[in-house]
Amino acid sequence: MSSGSSDHGNVTTSHSQSILARLPKCEHHLHIEGTLSPSLLFELAAKNDVDLPDRPEFASQEALEEYYKHFTDLQSFLDAYYVGSSVLITADDFERLAWDYLTAAKRDGVWHAELSFDPQAHHRRGISIDVVIEGLSRATKRAEAELNMSTCLIFCLMRDLGLNLALKTLRLAEEHIRNGTIVGIGLDSTEVGIDFKSFKPLYDLALSYGLRITAHAGEEGPPQNVWDTVDVLGCRRVDHGVHAAEDPALLQHLADTRTLLTVCPISNVCLKVIEHVRDSPLPQFLAAGVPFSINSDDPAYFGASGILECYQAVQNAFNWGPEEWLWICRSSIEGSWMDDEKKDKMLAACNVVLAEWESARGRNNLGR
Ligand code: HPA
Ligand code: ZN
Repeated sequence: MSSGSSDHGNVTTSHSQSILARLPKCEHHLHIEGTLSPSLLFELAAKNDVDLPDRPEFASQEALEEYYKHFTDLQSFLDAYYVGSSVLITADDFERLAWDYLTAAKRDGVWHAELSFDPQAHHRRGISIDVVIEGLSRATKRAEAELNMSTCLIFCLMRDLGLNLALKTLRLAEEHIRNGTIVGIGLDSTEVGIDFKSFKPLYDLALSYGLRITAHAGEEGPPQNVWDTVDVLGCRRVDHGVHAAEDPALLQHLADTRTLLTVCPISNVCLKVIEHVRDSPLPQFLAAGVPFSINSDDPAYFGASGILECYQAVQNAFNWGPEEWLWICRSSIEGSWMDDEKKDKMLAACNVVLAEWESARGRNNLGR
């Protein structure tokens, strides 16, 4: 999935590249449907007899790969993403998708993976939520047993479908919440024309079930959406949040409350939120003491850029050293939904890699 160089910035030094490859990682912001490659999309469409739209981009795998290079905004991506999701029918399809992602993530150095999925995108096509969760949880259990990874499943509701459907859909998952298979909810899809505050009853219901909570906000929408996510919905995690950088009082609030932003710089470039990774507000987050992690979002739609490539793109853009990467490691680990014992183990392992980097810098004047 990842290589030493990136299309999203300069080439990192081979030393910092190897450090980033070895750094234990948490992935917090990954839509499993967003890992569906064009080749698997066509394979599953044929297997499951799914008719793809009669549009030029669906004429061939090559045409679709080309199309994915030219999204104009979030909505143009979402239109393709929901068509892609429609080829997933059986529990085996979901298991295969998740297992392929988890093995690639393992190669990228992921120790802990939180997988979001869009139950409504499947339920509205007549695919039962039980089937989706059965397939995904087979893969996550296997990753825990065979890859020594910890995992979570995040039940992500689509805000453009409204509060009532979100409430109804969450209630369908009660059994999976009770047995611990679903650990949190998210909120995704467009921010345009959405009143975030209207989802308060959904977040209250999730909290009453003992679930963790997060929501996409401030990806294409204004800082107010991030304020509503933290103040009204009560989240201590925000997916994306890049537009928070426009509001110094909000940055201060995120820092004070140690609210994690799960940032996806390559996704932001591909969806024209920013022009280059170097335009990402990560340095502002660092300066303000806002915790953030780096994530891949929908890698199959964004040049197959897995999490390691996202880390490398950030390094290409900002040429950071061990101090800055320690902030990212600490933020990622502390903001993760994993147990404290694993957090301690992971932080210790990050410290070993970063201390090596620090001492190599001193010894060889290697720079970053
Ligand atoms: N933003 C909003 N909705 C989404 C995304 C995203 O990045 N990925 C999948 N659904
Ligand atoms: Zn996302």
